[in-house]
Amino acid sequence: MWQKAKKWLLIGMSITSIFALAACGSNTSSQQGGVGLSEEEAVDSSLWKDKYPLQYASYLKNKEGGMTEFGGSDKVPKADTEPEIKKLFAGYGFSKDYNEDRGHVYAVEDVTSTKRLKPNTPATCMTCKSTQVPLFYKKLGEDGYYNTLFSDIAKQTKHSIGCSDCHDPKTNELRVTRPAFIEAMKRRGIDVTKATRQEMRSYVCGQCHVEYYFDKGKVLTFPWDNGFGVDDIEKYYDAKQGFKDWEHPDSKAPMRKVQHPEFEWWITGTHGTAGVACADCHMPYMRDASGEKYSSHWWTSPLKTLEQSCTKCHTQGTDWLKQKVHDIQSRTWELQTIASKEIAKAHDQIKLALATPGADQNLIAQAQRKVVQAQWRWDWIAAENSRGFHNPDMALNTLGKAILMAKETQELAQQAMAKGQKAQPVKPAQ
Ligand code: HEC
Ligand code: HEC
Ligand code: HEC
Ligand code: HEC
Repeated sequence: MWQKAKKWLLIGMSITSIFALAACGSNTSSQQGGVGLSEEEAVDSSLWKDKYPLQYASYLKNKEGGMTEFGGSDKVPKADTEPEIKKLFAGYGFSKDYNEDRGHVYAVEDVTSTKRLKPNTPATCMTCKSTQVPLFYKKLGEDGYYNTLFSDIAKQTKHSIGCSDCHDPKTNELRVTRPAFIEAMKRRGIDVTKATRQEMRSYVCGQCHVEYYFDKGKVLTFPWDNGFGVDDIEKYYDAKQGFKDWEHPDSKAPMRKVQHPEFEWWITGTHGTAGVACADCHMPYMRDASGEKYSSHWWTSPLKTLEQSCTKCHTQGTDWLKQKVHDIQSRTWELQTIASKEIAKAHDQIKLALATPGADQNLIAQAQRKVVQAQWRWDWIAAENSRGFHNPDMALNTLGKAILMAKETQELAQQAMAKGQKAQPVKPAQ
């Protein structure tokens, strides 16, 4: 009993001390102050190097590759490990080109080379990729930026995600530079300018690592009006009559794609609700050879830095932590792959029903609605990059529902066909 209490006491104490530690970081950053660059100069992260060599050196590590069991930093196709992806996204760009995410320094290169681009792709797709975007907003106005073609904006873009995306060059304070985050939080009654320092350690990430859509085909919008949950956001899109990202060529269902909802999974998950920030795990404190402390700016899998990322709060040791992450991720993966297979079958069954003369159209329409709901739920886990870790119980709960809905879709399609096949033999006799 005492052992257990003592363990939580220790965790409690370490959490207090990490927040105290974090506070020291703030002094450091404000003492060091701004970097003395204009907004135009500050988009080039290499110009921050002289003033902040430690942070800059760790930033360069974002070039490193290397995979972990379920994540990692190499540009490998997601369909290599989950082949159903090709089928689930048939008729949509994600069936042609959909890779594991990698370091921030590659963002511009990867977005400009993806086969998902079309001649009419709007500039909006550049929003989370380059330090230059806030300047484009300033120069062109929000409307002007969204009305520019991606191909035109790409010609002027050369700097990938960097210092000025999250830091004010005058003061070095953390800042949010993307209007979609500020506006969506405002609609939830949250004023981002009043955020605490600990909140900012996640908000800077939440401006890009989120679910979003292009309102009116181009205005970047975060669908958080009803909340951050899977059902809340589904309801948001349901209220937009006829909303779809594409039509599936087999089932003819009006599909929706989930983006990369790390912020939403995190904020509703164990660590998010306990006040543990993205930066606590993904930007742990490091020491250089001389013992000077700095925040790691190598945004990568925390499995590569378990010691620094986790053991300040968890006293069980890195082997235990590694095992826990493995357990969560492998259980998630097991259900995720069952779900994708069942959803693929569901599309096939609807296709068969559509090809069956006399099949019940009402039941087919119900099946088409259900397959959208099933795939939406699977995609919340498939598109999120932590393979369940940011919110383990919601991930399993959501996948459980996805599998059930896929099975229900198959049954509806079979019932629709059964009616058709029953009706058919009667026809010639008439
Ligand atoms: C409690 C620690 C923790 C917190 C807090 C946390 N993460 Fe993670 N994150 C992880 C772990 C563990 C993984 C899984 C890494 C793997 O599979 O290799 C991960 C994976 C990721 C990945 C994919 C990395 C890869 O290798 O492809 C991204 C992106 C990510 N997190 C972003 C975020 C963002 C954004 C936030 C805040 C909104 C956040 N994380 C909060 C621990 C954390
Ligand atoms: C994705 C957001 C993001 C980007 C990009 C970014 N930083 Fe940071 N930076 C942070 C966060 C979060 C902290 C922790 C701040 C805190 O706790 O107050 C931080 C802290 C710092 C600090 C304070 C001292 C320390 O190490 O904690 C310095 C200096 C700094 N960053 C420099 C840089 C430089 C130089 C670059 C570009 C090479 C950069 N940052 C890019 C988010 C970012
Ligand atoms: C300006 C938008 C933006 C901001 C701000 C941002 N990210 Fe990212 N992040 C991206 C994009 C885009 C990628 C994928 C790049 C690629 O694959 O080319 C990415 C990739 C990652 C990865 C995967 C790296 C890998 O090696 O697989 C991690 C981890 C990550 N970000 C964490 C964070 C954290 C933590 C923060 C906040 C401190 C943050 N990001 C802030 C846009 C952003
Ligand atoms: C700033 C403190 C802090 C950091 C850093 C932190 N954790 Fe946690 N962790 C917590 C708290 C608080 C809980 C919730 C404990 C409880 O149940 O009350 C938790 C819960 C967990 C759980 C239980 C499963 C769950 O999500 O419900 C696991 C596993 C875990 N953490 C792993 C990790 C790993 C791995 C890392 C590093 C990548 C990490 N944590 C970093 C504070 C932290």
